[in-house]
This record gives sequence, C-alpha cells and structure tokens, in this order.
Amino acid sequence: MDISIVGSGYVGTTVAACFAEVGHDVVNVDIDEDVVASINGGRAPIHEPGLEELIETHAGESLRATTDYAAVRDTDVTFLALPTPAEDDGHIDLSILKVGARSLGAAIAEKDGAHVVVTKSTVVPTTTEDVIAPILEAESGRALGEGVHVGMNPEFLREGSAVEDFLSPDKVVLGSETEYAAETLRAVFDPLVERAGGPPVVETGVAEAEMIKYANNGFLAAKISLANDIANVCAEYGIDSEAVLSAIGLDHRIGSEFLEAGVGWGGSCFPKDVAAIVAAARDVGYEPAMLEAAIEVNDRQPVRLLGRLRDHVDPDGARVAVLGLAFKPGTGDVRNSRAIPLVEALVDAGADVVGYDPVATENFRAEFPDIEYAGSAEEALAGADAALVVTDWPEFAELDSAFDEMATPVVVDGRRVVTRRDGIVYEPLV
Ligand code: UDX
Repeated sequence: MDISIVGSGYVGTTVAACFAEVGHDVVNVDIDEDVVASINGGRAPIHEPGLEELIETHAGESLRATTDYAAVRDTDVTFLALPTPAEDDGHIDLSILKVGARSLGAAIAEKDGAHVVVTKSTVVPTTTEDVIAPILEAESGRALGEGVHVGMNPEFLREGSAVEDFLSPDKVVLGSETEYAAETLRAVFDPLVERAGGPPVVETGVAEAEMIKYANNGFLAAKISLANDIANVCAEYGIDSEAVLSAIGLDHRIGSEFLEAGVGWGGSCFPKDVAAIVAAARDVGYEPAMLEAAIEVNDRQPVRLLGRLRDHVDPDGARVAVLGLAFKPGTGDVRNSRAIPLVEALVDAGADVVGYDPVATENFRAEFPDIEYAGSAEEALAGADAALVVTDWPEFAELDSAFDEMATPVVVDGRRVVTRRDGIVYEPLV
C-alpha cells in the first residue's frame, strides 16, 4: 500500500517506520523542517529503541518525509497522527488536528479516486465523524462515504518499547463505517498481523475504536490507582503491600501487570486521556466515578510521599535529593512526571532541591531552571538531609554506600526500588 502519515511525533514517526518495515511505501508529512530532514537523512527525530535502525534502513527507499501535503495524493490512505493535548479543564484540544485535517482535505481535493483518512490520534468518541469528517468534506469538496472515507485505528504503544509494541501488538483495532475503509485498513494491517503471528484483529465502528483507546488507558490507570489504594491501606496496617499485590496478581482475572504501587502514573497519555474521557463523559451527562477516583488517588500519592518525608525531616531549609525526574524509567520524557508536583511542593516548603536523572535532566531543567542538578545519584546524595526516590530506574537499586555520604540518611522510596536497609532510615511510600 501507499500510505501517508500526517505528524512525525512519537506515534507518527514510529508508525511510519514500522509500516515501511512491513513492506509499505510510506510518506511522513510534517510542518517541522528539521524533523523532515532528520527522517530523510536516515536519523530518528526522537529517541526510541530500534527506531533509528528502521529509519536508516528504509529512508530514501520505502520511507520519506516532506512538508508538502500534496504528497498524500499519491497514497491510498492517510493516518492522522497529530497531538491532541489537554486543555486546562481536561477537555481534549483538537485545534492541531483540525488544522491538519483542513490541509489534508485541501490536498485530497485534487486526487484521482477515493481516499481514506484514518484517525490515529487519541480522540474522544465521535470526533472523527463529527469534527474531522465535516472538515474533510468541506475542504475536499467530496462526499463522505464516496470520495472520502474515514476510519479510526487507536495506538497502544508505550514509550521506550514503541517499535516492539507496534510490531508485536496484543490486538489491532480497526474502526470503519464503509466497506471501502474497512478493506483499506485490512490491506494496511494484513502484513503486520501476519508478521506478528496473528494477533486478534478487532473490526468495529469508528466511535467504538475511539472509545477503546480511552477504555484501555482508563482501565490501566485505574488498575494502578486501585493497586495504590490497596497499598495505602496495607501501609497503614504495616502490611507488606508487595506481598499482597503480587499474590492477587496470580489470579488470572486480575493479572500481575500494572500492579506496581508507588507514587503514581504520569506521562503523555494516562493523565491526559483519563482527564479527557472524564470531561467528555460529563459533557454527555455521566459522572464517571471510578475514573474520577483513579485521578484522585493518583494526585494524592505525591502528597503522601511528602508526608513520609515530613515524618523525619522538615523540608524548610533541608537539602533534599530527588532521584528520578522522568515519568518512568527508560525515557527522558518528563511530561506529567510525578517529580513535577513533588519538586514544586518541596520548593514551596523552602527545601533546597537537588535533582538527578540518568536521562531526563535537561528536559526537567527546562521546566525547573532554578533547582540544582547533579551529574550522578552519588553527587545528589552527598550532603543531603533526605532523598526521595521518584522513578524506578534500576541503578537506584544499587546505590548502597552512596547513602553513607548523606548528612542524614533518610530515604523515602516512592517506587520500592532501594534495596539497602541497614544504617539508613528507610521509609517506603507503600
Ligand atoms: C501508556 C500505555 O501503556 C500505552 O498503551 C498507551 O499507548 C500510552 O500510555 P506510557 O505512557 O508510555 O504508555 O507508559 P506506561 O509504561 O504505561 O507507564 C505509565 C505510567 O504508569 C508511568 O508513570 C509508570 O511509572 C506508571 N506505572 C506503570 C505504575 O505506577 N505502576 C505500574 O504497575 C505500571
């Protein structure tokens, strides 16, 4: 198939490179000239294991990038992979997607034959049919279901394993309303499904596909929050929450993944998506109590972590090492990292904060230019009155003797990653 992908961010670039890898001809359209030059030069514009190799292999052959939307006319189908950030009240912000849809619609006006437009971005139910389709119709002068067809294909890849997740999915979800769109989506995904050993392919409606993404992320975020709720009860009783959670994970109806209790979930998806579906549900007259509670528990975890710190050290004037600034290990991404509310609260309380992260320091510095940063965990700990462990980077399990260099060895562990117990005041969050 000839495929165009609008947007070369995290999802768009990964999807473009992976479609090229399974044998399609792919063009990536993005307004950012640096990103386009990077892809055409065989270099990945973002850091993601395996991505650089794919781009290097296929650039100039079956993968190219351009700033010109006219390129979509030579393709059978376009995937819209543009950002859908959150507004302050949690509602999804569709402005970037609408601009992309307008440019795309204008470009396909001059195409020979029908065109399929597939929403890859995460959008609240009915967005593709009620917002994107009318823009495409107006700009292209084509009728929906005739000259232009829409589809929805949610993406479940995780940062840090994006290529692997995309090429070996648990499931593929294809939403469409016309047979033409359904056939086109099948033709796009058939080679990937075959290569991945035949994962289930869910063929469904467009709005169902949109909702599946929110249901998936909402469920996982709520699962972690429920694990945190249970772990908090355990902590109050002095019960080992890890023993409890790993035991319940053995029930196949529960499953052991996404049961790691700690300071909560962050990142570019869970916080934005749970807030967006809560806001959308309220708009249609439903109060989604479980999803709201998932957010509330998540917001409380950093506050509880600071409570553990205050049990031992008054943050006012104290030197506090914050170990881990990324939203999870294996990435430099700090979007909605739990370190953000923690550092804000520490600074407000008058603490002298020194941050350390093996990868994310520069991204965090852009948000918090005024705190101190250390080049290593050892350097951050030296002379500190307390340490907060916020991200479960494996290296924090091996700090051992570095804690001896602290002024007072109070270690408040938000991820249960530190292994040392002797000679320090070890305070796990859960
Ligand atoms: C998530 C979804 O997993 C993915 O399917 C979707 O496409 C995008 O959002 P990602 O944000 O990359 O992926 O990270 P993920 O590995 O899911 O972790 C999200 C957050 O949950 C992190 O802050 C992580 O630390 C936290 N987490 C995860 C826990 O606190 N406990 C767990 O057991 C698992």
